[in-house]
Amino acid sequence: MARRAPNAGVYAVSGNIMLKDKTIVICVTGGIAAYKACDLASKLVQAGANVHVIMTRNAAEFVGPLTLRALTGNPVVRSLFDEIREFEIGHVSLSEKTDCLVVAPATLNIIGKVAQGIADDAVSTIISAAKSPVIFAPAMHTSMWNNPITQANVARLKELGYRFVGPDRGPLASGGWGIGRLAPSQEIMYHIETVIAGRGTDLTGYKVVVTSGPTREPIDPVRFLSNPSTGRMGHAVARAAVARGAETLLISGPTSLPPPSGVECVEVNTAAQMFRAVMDAAADADLYVGAAAVADYAPKNASAVKVKKDDASMAHVELEKTPDIIASLAARRRESGDHRLVLVGFAAETDNMVEHARAKLVEKGLDLMVANDVTQPGAGFAVDTNVVTLVRKDGKPTALPKMAKREVADRVLDEALALLRQAGGGSTQPASD
Ligand code: C5P
Repeated sequence: MARRAPNAGVYAVSGNIMLKDKTIVICVTGGIAAYKACDLASKLVQAGANVHVIMTRNAAEFVGPLTLRALTGNPVVRSLFDEIREFEIGHVSLSEKTDCLVVAPATLNIIGKVAQGIADDAVSTIISAAKSPVIFAPAMHTSMWNNPITQANVARLKELGYRFVGPDRGPLASGGWGIGRLAPSQEIMYHIETVIAGRGTDLTGYKVVVTSGPTREPIDPVRFLSNPSTGRMGHAVARAAVARGAETLLISGPTSLPPPSGVECVEVNTAAQMFRAVMDAAADADLYVGAAAVADYAPKNASAVKVKKDDASMAHVELEKTPDIIASLAARRRESGDHRLVLVGFAAETDNMVEHARAKLVEKGLDLMVANDVTQPGAGFAVDTNVVTLVRKDGKPTALPKMAKREVADRVLDEALALLRQAGGGSTQPASD
């Protein structure tokens, strides 16, 4: 079992239509990651957004304003107050039109200033006066990020409804490896799209545990039993949960996907490892979403050495049942009498989908089952879309049309949120809807 850091992998972002003609303001502050603001600006422009940049004096030392002007086609505002006025008047009050303001990279300094109500330059003034949602994408050295003052400022800003994406773990410009890297542009764009879609930070104060991907059950060191799950659905749920403010832990079987920014990830291989990781992590969770395709059977006696292909045992691998993770959580919940943990399962079916899903929901003792017929085009494994039906404990099932997995993730979380509110969990009051 190993912990894996969120990092800069490429995610397919399908929401570009969402950014068309939207006005996005990027505030660039003075860290080495300032150069990455050029990539973000460029990708937003390619997605059809109208992008404006405001820079601090220090940021302009790291990256030329001319570059950002050329990329966005708009004048870059720097530290002079008369330029801010021009920004307001010359652009018919741009702040009125701004759909989202993103601070990328956000230094310890700007986080501290905004948290303490200091507005002493163009960037801090515009953030403090913003009428649109604000996303901070922090980037700084690990020790600065871990500084309790920074953490207190971040917590205060989150409480006030400011959003954060990252920072990620990885190699740092100042040397070494740790938390503090700017989230990749695609991840920042996903959070901007969440804002544009009108989604609030409605999962703030909730701890969400998500499983994703397949499991691998070894026959010997070079062979295993598994399934075609790629982890796209589970990763999409984790990504949506963190963007909506939840403290999110992803427990993933082997996939090629990087964990979403801001999500802690535990990597596992086998169903037994996933079982242990989940039972441990879910002890203080509010919501568990079991999107992993957990193997139902594993070889009983995996060989420690490669079995020769002519060995008769290869033709008759003896299997034993793996622990049912989600059913075990439901049993623990029943026995404890504490009903705060909401349990959502996924059921991949090939026939009589709703009946089978409902039977599993009842048998396992869950609150919601997300059923999909994996034989349908655009549903199930290894595609970016899914066609699901939400099957509840009581009431009629809701069949959703074919939609992107990221959208399915939000629909599942909407339903889960209603259940969370009924269950009355969560450590703090959600910041906003
Ligand atoms: O019974 P079936 O495997 O179809 O149920 C699917 C649901 O049960 C999924 O949410 C899956 O993550 C979960 N599951 C589990 N442990 C297993 C098998 C399935 O938690 N051993």
